Amino acid sequence: MCGIVGIVDKDHPVSPIIHEALQRLEYRGYDSAGIATIYQNAIFMKKDKGKIKEIHEKLDLDKLPGTTGIGHTRWATHGLPSRINAHPHVDCTNKIAVVHNGIIENFLDLREELGKRHTFVSETDTEIIPHLIEEIITKTKCDLRTATKRALQKIRGNYALVIIYVKEPHKLVVARNGSPLVIGIGEKVDYCASDIPALLPFTRKVVLLNDGEMATIQCDEISIETINGAVAVEPKIFDVPWTPEMAQKGGYPHFMLKEIHEQPHALNGTLMIRPEIIDQIAKVLNDSEKVYITAAGTSNHAGLAGKYMLSKLSALRSQAITSSEFQESTVNLIDDGTTILAISQSGETADTLNAVKFAKSNGARIVSITNVMGSTISRLSDLTLYTQAGPEIGVAATKTFIVQLASLALISLQLADIIGKLNGSEIEQFREELLQTPRIIEKTIKKQESLIRDIAYEHANKQNFLFLGRGISTATAMEGSLKLKEVAYIHSEAYPAGESKHGAIALIEPGFPVVFVTPPDETHEKIIGNIMEMKAREATIMSIADEQDYEIQKLSDKTIGIPQTPTPFSPITYVIPLQLFAYYAATKRGYDPDKPRNLAKSVTVL
Ligand code: F6R
Repeated sequence: MCGIVGIVDKDHPVSPIIHEALQRLEYRGYDSAGIATIYQNAIFMKKDKGKIKEIHEKLDLDKLPGTTGIGHTRWATHGLPSRINAHPHVDCTNKIAVVHNGIIENFLDLREELGKRHTFVSETDTEIIPHLIEEIITKTKCDLRTATKRALQKIRGNYALVIIYVKEPHKLVVARNGSPLVIGIGEKVDYCASDIPALLPFTRKVVLLNDGEMATIQCDEISIETINGAVAVEPKIFDVPWTPEMAQKGGYPHFMLKEIHEQPHALNGTLMIRPEIIDQIAKVLNDSEKVYITAAGTSNHAGLAGKYMLSKLSALRSQAITSSEFQESTVNLIDDGTTILAISQSGETADTLNAVKFAKSNGARIVSITNVMGSTISRLSDLTLYTQAGPEIGVAATKTFIVQLASLALISLQLADIIGKLNGSEIEQFREELLQTPRIIEKTIKKQESLIRDIAYEHANKQNFLFLGRGISTATAMEGSLKLKEVAYIHSEAYPAGESKHGAIALIEPGFPVVFVTPPDETHEKIIGNIMEMKAREATIMSIADEQDYEIQKLSDKTIGIPQTPTPFSPITYVIPLQLFAYYAATKRGYDPDKPRNLAKSVTVL
């Protein structure tokens, strides 16, 4: 989704730093980019369609003069990717420039009204903002802050905005409603951006704006207020624990590969999470009449696996519902006896936030699992568990998936302890085994990566794949399938293996690749039956199985062996080969797995 940056510096030109920060936002997904600065009572602007590197080669983004500026990476919603639609957008007098992430819902009405007096050049919803502010300033002779506030009171929708005005050249006015925005504090310089990784090389001191707040940022002064009222808000500065190196490739060709390799470390950190928060969450779940797990994409697969863990280990009845369907599926079902367990690595996914807001407005308690401190989901939640994966830059979620799984495993074990479903020594044994998972992943990567690469290279030209698992491995299969589609652009479907004979099996012809996820759990015997069905139709069978599982090895054309993993935790280790498989299939096909087409890291529209 769109990325925004703003910088106001006492002494130095800002365009090279805005350029660098925009590159750090590239992972969010975009199709055009631009920068505007203020210099000698004028706006200077460069923008175009395409990648930042190409735009820079053509226009030299570092050569804009001025110590105040804004930048943007656009992910098209209103209007095709083009130079005209790229941000920043300016008013008729070319004195006000705006960058925006989000959607202005009433833009058609506003555009029709403003169109009588103003000239619009783009198809975007954003362009109404500079014109509206221009009109308010012309009519009332107020300052930028006041004009922005009045303009925002007329606007409906989601936004994170940064605005500059040549008559107030040492100032950024920013606002947030439903799209992420952080303010960074430096020495004689202040910043704002869509997310923390964009600012890591410049500052680790940040202030988080809440929805419905705006701020006026000058080098040595930040004032925050509510948009709908005159309430001043005290800025709370917090220190970010992430380092700039964490958001670098560290010698790997892609973030995705680096993040796959970082998983043992991310997992170790998460397994050491404060036990108090796990205990608090487990108690809330135990006190609930109904528990719904909700999330999108990869996080939704973690949620699905979580449902199995909670039922297996702690006999908790829960339902996992993808967040875009949550409201429709639970109309009339949410009340004050309900708890929502919402999972989102970014904490900013609009579908998940929408589900949470709907449940909250019906009296539910909200418990969340997220990787980003201070993210919107954490602010909507009664309790938040922060996973310890560090920043995830690759668009495809990898390390955040396994830390979500680990968090759900810890919660399930704690709940089992509270309700006495497992005895003390059983719990201890499960905990011990869970602590072994980072080591198992390390061994798997070391031993199997080259075999997985070879298999991926060999099959990278296939058009279709089927991923099958039973029980908790259905979630693992779904995640493997999603990874392959999103980074290698190979069509794939995932099914519970037992369900495949009710339809998907019709696709099978000789050589059709079917990936089975087959840990040695209680589903093992049945899945062998499903493998036989596929084999009988001459499918190519690839299996992820226990390294000692000679039966599966015999039935499969290719097998990736995983060291023994306790069964309820198998998704944590069995997903690793599937992530690597997708990565190598993507690179073999010549795609950049870090920036899959049409996708964004954090999907902030519904
Ligand atoms: C897939 C992927 C997406 C996200 C989904 C939810 O690799 O990254 O499917 O999982 O957009 O994102 P979060 O977890 O930030 O809510």
